[in-house]
Amino acid sequence: MNLLEKYNAVRQQTLAFCSHLAVEDFSIQVAKFASPAKWHLAHTTWFFETFILKKQINQYPEFNENYNFLFNSYYNNVGDRILQANRGNLSRPSIQEIYAYRKHVDTHMQQLLNTDLNLDLKKLIVLGLQHEEQHQELLVTDVKYMLGHNPIFPAYHPNTNLSKDTNLCTNLIKINQGIYKIGHQGTDFCFDNELGVHQVFIDDFHIQNYLVTNGDFLEFMKDGAYQNFNLWLDDGWHWIQKNNINAPLYWHFYKGEWHQYTFAGLCKVDPNAILCHVSYYEAVAFAEWKKMRLPTEFEWEVASKQLNWGTRWEWTQSAYLPYPNFKKESGAVGEYNGKFMSNKMVLRGASAATSKNHSRTTYRNFFHPSERWQFTGIRLAK
Ligand SMILES: [Fe+2]
Repeated sequence: MNLLEKYNAVRQQTLAFCSHLAVEDFSIQVAKFASPAKWHLAHTTWFFETFILKKQINQYPEFNENYNFLFNSYYNNVGDRILQANRGNLSRPSIQEIYAYRKHVDTHMQQLLNTDLNLDLKKLIVLGLQHEEQHQELLVTDVKYMLGHNPIFPAYHPNTNLSKDTNLCTNLIKINQGIYKIGHQGTDFCFDNELGVHQVFIDDFHIQNYLVTNGDFLEFMKDGAYQNFNLWLDDGWHWIQKNNINAPLYWHFYKGEWHQYTFAGLCKVDPNAILCHVSYYEAVAFAEWKKMRLPTEFEWEVASKQLNWGTRWEWTQSAYLPYPNFKKESGAVGEYNGKFMSNKMVLRGASAATSKNHSRTTYRNFFHPSERWQFTGIRLAK
């Protein structure tokens, strides 16, 4: 697949997901962190317009001069923007206007992609596509958050569940101590936070080749774990108290049984399915209850070739920090990852909501310990 074909495929994939949404679904923002679908459609388009078309095409006809203010996410180098919490206030521009915006940018991108491009420009376009694939996953999780907070729990699509994967095996893998290389090697695409290969000493450890299931977590709950402060980090204990949390996100005790909201609607919790939508705090408390621990991100990477992974983002006990040789790019693109390296934990793997071919064993995802609207799960080590 050449770059033009790849561009068309990624852009089409975003639209394909939206084809099951109602017009009313596009603008709603239930929480600050969960952006409306319309905003994602526009923001991913803004990325190509701002970082590529406006710089590469002489007298590029900007679609709408207000869009930089509306659809810039967090790039201080590119100017002021609306508050993240106000993205749901955008009843206008309409979804039709946003689709027209996408078409306008696609037409100019396709013209550009039909010319000879230098390597740096190709790399920037690939970054734009990787960015859109990241937003495809955010689109899925934000739409789930929106529909999952609708009192009648509407399905996104009856055949799309995304939460019913089960483990393929139940063995424990032993990894021998040694000095291992960590970080992305080779010439394939990766984000800047994966670069700067360095060596890490790792002691002997064991890691589960399976993820915690709903059934495992129900045992934890039945044992009174959400009431037992001894299992919790102090921040985690305050978080469950303050927010009245007593189960994973989307779980509801209904007619005497635990149910969960899935993309296919509300259904009974399947004890064999892999647990989904837990915070780092819940992951740590569960590990404590099991008298085990979460792997570090380095242990995860070393073990990854032997692991079944890809159904849930897996919390690690590593803080999200720059690798020793991390280099921040200059300008706005340098704001992509580096400035978020505080108060977040690393998650490894990928999830059932991750776009195809968007994952690799060196990928470093990162969220605040309380966040659980991504498809997050738990793998234990000791
Ligand atoms: Fe973005």
